[in-house]
Amino acid sequence: MEVIIAKDRQELAEIAAGIIREQIRRKPNSVLGLATGSTPEDTYKRLIRYHKEEGLDFSKVVTFNLDEYLGLPKDHDQSYWYFMHDRLFNHVNINPSNIHVPDGMAPDPEAFCDWYEEEIERAGGIDLQLLGIGGDGHIAFNEPGSSLASRTRVKALTEQTIKDNAELFFGKDKQHLVPRFAITMGVGTILEARKLLLIAFGKRKASICKKFIEGPVTSMVTASALQLHPNAIVVLDEEAAAELEYKEYYKWVQKMKKEEYQKVLDRLAQ
Ligand code: PGA
Repeated sequence: MEVIIAKDRQELAEIAAGIIREQIRRKPNSVLGLATGSTPEDTYKRLIRYHKEEGLDFSKVVTFNLDEYLGLPKDHDQSYWYFMHDRLFNHVNINPSNIHVPDGMAPDPEAFCDWYEEEIERAGGIDLQLLGIGGDGHIAFNEPGSSLASRTRVKALTEQTIKDNAELFFGKDKQHLVPRFAITMGVGTILEARKLLLIAFGKRKASICKKFIEGPVTSMVTASALQLHPNAIVVLDEEAAAELEYKEYYKWVQKMKKEEYQKVLDRLAQ
């Protein structure tokens, strides 16, 4: 796992958006896995800017979102379908038929989940999956105890997630309105993406970041499954990185990669 520590939220978004931009430039028909929540908002703002100012081309990009609340229609202003259109899709030249967000109103959610998996496969698999992390260590809605081999399915949300979401999206007193279930890609589905990019910022993520990066791989912290992936990048700001035991080492690695590694390669090639 490559751990990059940005000085603040802005630099974090710049790094994350830069990695996504690079992916799209290198492979214009990239399949991107996308995430919702407060964490990726600034990253999406930057991608919109790259589209408007530099012509970053989304016309061939295919997207799959991680999750959606069960029972929320697309046009509900708290649905993830709505969030993605509002924060990104409506502002770039993506082809609407290339957008996939799980359907929270699917009459047979389990059959829908199987179809979603097949669609990902038909698209050739996910090239780059963007992830946030929940306070309980979840990636997508893979709550504690989710199998690390799990596939797209319906999941009951934990009380903490319901509370977090109530505060972020519905207002503190609206907890009763937060859906209790979601359709979510599984940890196994996520691990099949060719590259993973997890981002997190702020003090409230510091202790869970220590657990998933430096603790054991466990289904009780599903983000820890990133340790099993051969190509996972984690970008944190200083606050989210505050409790990392090897923080200075991660910084050292980044510095060495920038300043020294090419020199070593040049010397070896002589
Ligand atoms: P957040 O949510 O980006 O709003 O912190 C992340 C998550 O729950 O996965």
